[in-house]
Amino acid sequence: MGSMDDYPRKPSQSQSPTRSKLKILLVLVLTNLLSIYLFSGSSGRINWLPPATHLWDSGALLRELNETQGLLSASQAEVMLLSRRLSTTNTLLETLLTDVGKARRDEAAEQDLEGWAHQLTGELKLAVGPHKLPLGYTPNLGSDELYPTLGTACRRYQEELTQYMSYAVGGECPSDEAFAQRLMLKGCEPLPRRRCHPKSPVGYVEPTPFPESLWSIPPDASITWDAYTCKNYACLVHRKMEKGTYDCKDCFDLSGREKDRWLYDNGELDYGIDEVLEAKHGSVRIGLDIGGGTGSFAARMRERNVTIVTSSMNFDGPFNNFIASRGLLPLHISVAHRLPFFDNTLDIVHSMHVLSNWIPDAMLEFALFDIHRVLRPGGLFWLDHFFCLGTQLNATYVPMFQRIGFKKLRWSAGRKLDRGLDKNEWYLSALLEKPTT
Ligand SMILES: *[C@@H]1O[C@H](CO)[C@@H](O)[C@H](O)[C@H]1NC(C)=O
Ligand SMILES: *[C@@H]1O[C@H](CO)[C@@H](O)[C@H](O)[C@H]1NC(C)=O
Ligand SMILES: *[C@@H]1O[C@H](CO)[C@@H](O)[C@H](O)[C@H]1NC(C)=O
Repeated sequence: MGSMDDYPRKPSQSQSPTRSKLKILLVLVLTNLLSIYLFSGSSGRINWLPPATHLWDSGALLRELNETQGLLSASQAEVMLLSRRLSTTNTLLETLLTDVGKARRDEAAEQDLEGWAHQLTGELKLAVGPHKLPLGYTPNLGSDELYPTLGTACRRYQEELTQYMSYAVGGECPSDEAFAQRLMLKGCEPLPRRRCHPKSPVGYVEPTPFPESLWSIPPDASITWDAYTCKNYACLVHRKMEKGTYDCKDCFDLSGREKDRWLYDNGELDYGIDEVLEAKHGSVRIGLDIGGGTGSFAARMRERNVTIVTSSMNFDGPFNNFIASRGLLPLHISVAHRLPFFDNTLDIVHSMHVLSNWIPDAMLEFALFDIHRVLRPGGLFWLDHFFCLGTQLNATYVPMFQRIGFKKLRWSAGRKLDRGLDKNEWYLSALLEKPTT
C-alpha cells in the first residue's frame, strides 16, 4: 500500500484561477510601484522651481534657458522610456489574462471529461462507459444510462489505463498482473473490465477432489508463472529474500507452521478456532478472512462447516490461485477496498497480521467501521496479532476500537518478542462482538 498523498500533481498549465488572479494583482502593484519610482526619480533630477535669474543678465538667462532645454529633453526621454515600460507591462498583463481565460477553459473541458485528462478513445472508452440503455427500459436508477464501476483514482492514471486496455479484443490479455495490481494499490480499484482472455496454463491439471484439496499443494501446471520469480510451488516454499522477508513467508508450506495455526488456544495471543466458535454455539456459518494468505484459516473453518471467503492480492506469489486450488473462495481486493458484502450479513470477520499500524489511522478507522457494517448483530470480529508500538496501543488504537463500538469478549496484548524486548513492539489479539440492540 502506498501512502495516501502520493498522487501525481497536475501540470502547471491548468493552474487555479485564484493563483492567476493573485499574479495579476501582483503585476498591477508592480506597475504602480514602477510608475511611482520613475516619476519620483524624474522630479528629483528636474528643478521645477522658477530659475532665480535676473532679466538684465542676458548671458545668465541664455545659460539658464539652455540648461532648462537640456533638462526638458532629458525628461522627455524619460517619459518615452516610461511609456515603453508601461506598454511592456500591458503586454505581460494581456498574456496573463489570456492564460487565466485558457485555464478556465481547460478546467471546463476537464469537467466535460469527468476528470479524465484527455478524451477517452477505443477500448478504454467502451469499458468505462456510460452506455445508453435500450429504448423502453426505464430502470429505477434515475438515469437512462449504465455506468460500469471503476475506481475514481483511475482518472489520474489515464496513460497507464490506456496501456492496460491495449490488447487484441477476443485475444490473449497481456501478462501484466503486477502492473495491474500496482494500479489497484494506487486507488484504481476496481480496474475496468477487459475483453481478452488471461493466459491459460500449458498442460492444465484438474484440481484435487475435496476434501484432500484442502491440504494439498496444487500441481505446478495449474497456473502460469509469468508474473513471479519462482516458477513452481517448491520454489515458493523454500524461497529466501536477501533482505527482509516475503509477505506470508510460510504460507505456501502446508506441512509447516501453516498446519498448526489456530488449532491450539494458548490463552494469550494465540486463540483457537474451536474456542472462538464455541463463543457462538454454532451460529457462525459464513465469514471473511481479510488478507488471508493461502487460505489456511478458511480451510480450518471449512472443516468445521463454516464458509469463509479469503481476500488476498497476488503479490510475489499466486495466492488467489492457491486458495482456489484448495477448494476455497478467494477474493481479489486490496485492504483499501470497501467490503463487497451487504450490511449486517456476516457471522465472522478475521484478520491476522494484515490490519496493523502500517495502515494510516484514518484509513484503518474506515476499514474497522466497514467490518462493523458487514457483521450481523452479534457477529464476531477476530483481530489476530494486530501489530503496533506499545505507546500507540493505549494512545491510538484502544480509543479507536471504542469509537467503533465493538464489545470486547477477549482482549490480549503482549510484547512482540521475535525482534527483542528493547523495541517495545506489541501484538494485540482480540475477539470483538458487534452488539445486538
Ligand atoms: C548649451 O549647452 C550645451 C551643453 O549642454 C553647450 O554645448 C552649448 O554650447 C550651450 N549653448 C549656449 C548658448 O550656451
Ligand atoms: C459438517 O456437516 C456435515 C454434513 O452436514 C456433518 O456430517 C459433519 O458432522 C459436520 N462437521 C462438523 C465439524 O460439524
Ligand atoms: C495500557 O493501559 C492498560 C490499562 O491502563 C495498562 O495495564 C497497560 O500496561 C497499558 N499498555 C501499554 C502497552 O502501555
